[in-house]
Amino acid sequence: MGFYENRILPHMINRVCGTPPILKQREKIVPKAEGRVLEIGMGSGINLSFYDPERVEFVWGLEPSEGMRRKAQANIARSNVEVKWLGLPGEEIPLDDDSADTVMLTYTLCTIADFRAALAQMRRVLKPGGSLLFCEHGESPDAGVRKWQARLNPIWRAMAGGCNLDRPIDRSLEEGGFAIESLETMYVPGGPRVASFNYWGRAKAR
Ligand SMILES: C[S@@+](CC[C@H](N)C(=O)[O-])C[C@H]1O[C@@H](n2cnc3c(N)ncnc32)[C@H](O)[C@@H]1O
Repeated sequence: MGFYENRILPHMINRVCGTPPILKQREKIVPKAEGRVLEIGMGSGINLSFYDPERVEFVWGLEPSEGMRRKAQANIARSNVEVKWLGLPGEEIPLDDDSADTVMLTYTLCTIADFRAALAQMRRVLKPGGSLLFCEHGESPDAGVRKWQARLNPIWRAMAGGCNLDRPIDRSLEEGGFAIESLETMYVPGGPRVASFNYWGRAKAR
């Protein structure tokens, strides 16, 4: 891994993912987690302060990037919930079937290279009746914005660590074997419209 991916990108992602409007989004979803939580692409651990320690037993933090795991150390040190690292990508979740009560997916489905394989893994490890809680940016419902998402995606992906602007989050979850129980959407204020259309809610394995 190069200097940009290992040192600069973790810092940039931590900044962009920690703005007040994005923190507000996290507040809407992360406190709903319960039991054994698997966080996919835990990044710098910004979600940790939003977990309710009364409801959460511990968090498996799956994060393939060493630079992001390093960046997370300060948030882990402050955390009221225990974190167990899993240093593998979402396509290879090293857990038994039916082991997590909650799968937490925030601003990560955009980045996972083989997101279909990763969703199949999330479905495998989620206990029957468990929840996948998600808050992701993705494909805009507006044709004009979608056109720019498609145009900018190649350069954005190269600069932003593999992040895609235009993944259809709801359809991807449904096609990945999840039934969406609740879904809200909006452009989160403060960012460019190409990158700010958010989807958040709860899904269950079908
Ligand atoms: C934009 S960051 C979001 C981090 C965190 N989920 C958050 O909400 O702040 C995307 C994260 O996905 C991680 N990632 C990239 N490829 C991945 C994969 N195949 N499986 C799991 N995580 C991956 C990146 O290392 C990065 O930490």
